[in-house]
Amino acid sequence: MRSIKVTLIIILLILVTTVTGCSKRARDMEQVSENERIIIRFSHVVAENTPKGIAAKRFARLVQERTNGRVEVQVYPNSTLYKDGEEFKALLENNVQMIAPATAKLTNMFPQWQVFDLPFLFNDYQDAHNAMDGVVGQELFKMLEERNILGLAMWDNGFKQVSATHPLEKVEDFRGLTFRIMPSEVLESQFSQMGAYTKVLPFNEVYRALQIGEVDGAENPLSNFFTKKFHQVQPYLTISNHGYLGYAVLTNKVFWDGVPEDIKTIIENTMKEVTEWERAEAERQNVMVLSDLQKMNITKIYYLKPQEKRRWREILKPVYAEFTDEIGQDILNKIEN
Ligand code: LMR
Repeated sequence: MRSIKVTLIIILLILVTTVTGCSKRARDMEQVSENERIIIRFSHVVAENTPKGIAAKRFARLVQERTNGRVEVQVYPNSTLYKDGEEFKALLENNVQMIAPATAKLTNMFPQWQVFDLPFLFNDYQDAHNAMDGVVGQELFKMLEERNILGLAMWDNGFKQVSATHPLEKVEDFRGLTFRIMPSEVLESQFSQMGAYTKVLPFNEVYRALQIGEVDGAENPLSNFFTKKFHQVQPYLTISNHGYLGYAVLTNKVFWDGVPEDIKTIIENTMKEVTEWERAEAERQNVMVLSDLQKMNITKIYYLKPQEKRRWREILKPVYAEFTDEIGQDILNKIEN
C-alpha cells in the first residue's frame, strides 16, 4: 500500500514538472510576437549525422533556448534547400542566413582560400586550428566582407582519405583514374601531379557518379565517406591524411547588422561553444567511422606507409610553387610560422 502511494506521488510530481516545463516553453514562444522573431535559415549539404549536421542542430537548439524563442534557427541538411554552387548565392541574396561550406567552395571567388586545399599543409588538428583561429583565418574572413559576407567560425571535418575502384598504395596507382573533386584548382593540380584526372561535382552527386563509374574515386574525410555510403561503391580506401577539409561558418552581413546587440552576443557565444564541441565531435566521428569500416570489412583499407607518404609529399611539392602567387607568400609564411 505504502509503495503504491509513493509511486503515485512520483507520477504526480513528474506530471507537474512536465506540464510546468511545457507551459513555460509555450509561454516563452508565445511572448515572442511574429515581428520580433528572427528566423535564421541554415543550409548545408551533408547528412544530418555528420559533425557539421549535428553541430548545426545543436547550435539551433541552444540559440532558441537562450533567446527564449526570439531566434529560430531552421536547419536544412543534405542539400535539401540549396546545393553546392547554389548556397553561396543564396546567402548573398539573404535567402539563407547561414551556411557552412567547405573552404574549397569559396575558392572560385576568393583564390586565397585555396590555401586549405594544399596537400599535407597541416600535420594535425592543432595545426589547422592555429591557422584558422589566428591571423590567417582573420585575414581570409576579412576578404569575404567585400561581398557582405561575415565569417562566424571555422569548423572541422577533418583529414581527407582517398578511395577508388582500384587499390591506391603507390603514386603510380593513381595514373589514368578520374577523381571527383570540390571546385578548387589546387585539388585539380594535386591529382594531376599524381597522374590522375579530375571532375568537379557537387557533393550530392558523388554517390551516383561513383556508382555508375563516371568517376573512379574521391577524397573525403571518413565521416562524409561513411554517412553518404560511399563504402558501398568504393572497394578500396587508403588512409592517407593527405589533405584537410574544414568549414567556414558564414552569415550575410546585411542580415547580421540588423540583429539586435543582445541577440548577437548570444549567437556569438553559442557559436564559440558549439565550435569547440563540433571540433571534438569531428575528431571522434572520424576515429569511430574507421573502426566501423574495419569491422564491416566491405572496403579494403590500406594505411599509407611513411616512405610512401614521403613520396607523395615529394611529388605534390610543385602544387605549392604553382599556387604561391594566387594564395600569397605572406599567408603561407604565416601558416609555416
Ligand atoms: C564535399 O563536397 O566533399 C564537402 O564539401 C561536403 C561537406 O560539406 O563536407
